[in-house]
Amino acid sequence: MTAAYEYETHDYDVVVVGAGGAGLRATLGMAEQGLRTACVTKVFPTRSHTVAAQGGIAASLSNMGPDNWQWHMYDTVKGSDWLGDTDAMEYLAREAPKAVYELEHYGVPFSRTEEGKIYQRPFGGHTTEFGEGPPVQRTCAAADRTGHAILHTLYGQSLKNNAEFYIEYFAMDLIMSDDGRCTGVVCWKLDDGTFHVFNAKMVVLATGGYGRAYFSATSAHTCTGDGGGMVARAGLALQDMEFVQFHPTGIYGSGCLITEGARGEGGYLTNSEGERFMERYAPTYKDLAPRDYVSRSMTMEIREGRGVGEHGDHIHLNLSHLPAEALAERLPGISESAKIFAGVDVTKEPIPVLPTVHYNMGGIPTNYYGEVLNPTPKDHNAVVPGLMAVGEAGCASVHGANRLGSNSLIDLVVFGRAAAIRAGHVVDAEAPNEPVNTASVQKAFDRFDAIRHASGHTPTSDLRLEMQRTMQDDAAVFRTDKTLKEGVDKMVAVAGKFQDIQVTDRSLVWNSDLMETLELANLMPNALATIVGAEARKESRGAHAHEDYPTRDDKVWRKHTISRVEGNKVTLTYRDVIVAPLTTEKEGGISLKKIAPKARTF
Ligand code: FUM
Repeated sequence: MTAAYEYETHDYDVVVVGAGGAGLRATLGMAEQGLRTACVTKVFPTRSHTVAAQGGIAASLSNMGPDNWQWHMYDTVKGSDWLGDTDAMEYLAREAPKAVYELEHYGVPFSRTEEGKIYQRPFGGHTTEFGEGPPVQRTCAAADRTGHAILHTLYGQSLKNNAEFYIEYFAMDLIMSDDGRCTGVVCWKLDDGTFHVFNAKMVVLATGGYGRAYFSATSAHTCTGDGGGMVARAGLALQDMEFVQFHPTGIYGSGCLITEGARGEGGYLTNSEGERFMERYAPTYKDLAPRDYVSRSMTMEIREGRGVGEHGDHIHLNLSHLPAEALAERLPGISESAKIFAGVDVTKEPIPVLPTVHYNMGGIPTNYYGEVLNPTPKDHNAVVPGLMAVGEAGCASVHGANRLGSNSLIDLVVFGRAAAIRAGHVVDAEAPNEPVNTASVQKAFDRFDAIRHASGHTPTSDLRLEMQRTMQDDAAVFRTDKTLKEGVDKMVAVAGKFQDIQVTDRSLVWNSDLMETLELANLMPNALATIVGAEARKESRGAHAHEDYPTRDDKVWRKHTISRVEGNKVTLTYRDVIVAPLTTEKEGGISLKKIAPKARTF
């Protein structure tokens, strides 16, 4: 039986799904070029998760000492544990300064140096002289509310350029043509229960990550991998999902983020013996080693009985030695968070912290223009016409197996901007929109209707919790064959239980029960691809620390995992890492020799 739902059709050149940093930068760039652009978002734009980004945005401006894009690129390559695509990493590092100056000119209120330049702080893994020199101050900051500042500025600029916003519209599914092009998206308007088909020449997925597949995450509750869910249902691929970043300093208990900028400003970690243990693990970079490394070191301290607190199950972050004025000026947000979520006055006491899920390196595979890839055995870089993905939803791949702190905000704006530039070339604003593929729209409604009327025995919140606990326990900082095998079995069973889901509210207006169930349906393929991909990867690389295979194996495993999810079944194939940079050394680029894989030491 087919479900009968009426809908309104909106024709646009471009529809962007999501209004975080990447979605807004893409929206603004598209609108600036005169493309008729709609931005569809399930939350008010300035409530998107980018608003929570604290420490800053990486770009080699050299405001606080020598720096250049080649050093930034090298650090990104090394940070990725040699899994990132070299062309995309070069593009990121080269375009970063331009993208940040644009933000400045759009009006982002960056913190300033004495001379009035953009203030930059040190962040983990950002160095000088191709990793041979001291840490660099590369992370441009607006106190510790950088994401907030960027998001508000980009929203204002998008409105100024006549982008049209559809706020509190939930994207249900992609509309695909019979020959595999994406031609739009079907949406449910949450506040009045109406339905809307956005018929577009280009769809840009900027839906963020899927941190909420885990029990404890710094991600907002809205980070439910909606883009990945839609892509999986369209039969398209996800990439490198096994690489999940744990941020070293989530507040113990709540998971609320304490920025790495806290360590950039001079904070340090201690164990139950008061020891600054990072000096032992990373003699050169200490507390400013990359995140995967710091998170593993903290976990080892706890495992070996040197955790703090009643249960010895967390670590202390110390800031009280820093001048109170510096804390108030540079870290006001986290000082407040520490007070609210841990009852701690940072000028006097340490903050209890624990590695907490923070970022998904994997996502929807794209090239460095933001175009979505559908890798085939013959063509690993085949493009899906009409579809782009940017920001955490996408996987360009610049972060590879591990992202450097502050490379996320720059990823959002560099690739949001790149997508807009590309759309300017490939979208014909003069051409009429093609007719809507009603069969694809009907498929979306049939799925929606089945979930709306689901009358099983498993409440959404119970199944979500089961998924979150499984992921937290079995796809953790450290992984083993045993935990991963058990985790796969459990996750397959959990996903199977979606058939028995129970939705109790059948209404269409502000039905949070239904919306959370649709979100859970999106989280499931993301979680499944993560744990299945992790179980298959028999090496340790970046955030994937496999205790049974403790070393990196470039011969066999320097390749991207491609997963396709159908129901609770995941099929894996692999895609070559792009090794060639965009420019040669002669053209001012970086030599292949310089970025050849080697041991990652700190
Ligand atoms: O620690 C932080 O401020 C987070 C930054 C990031 O994830 O890039």
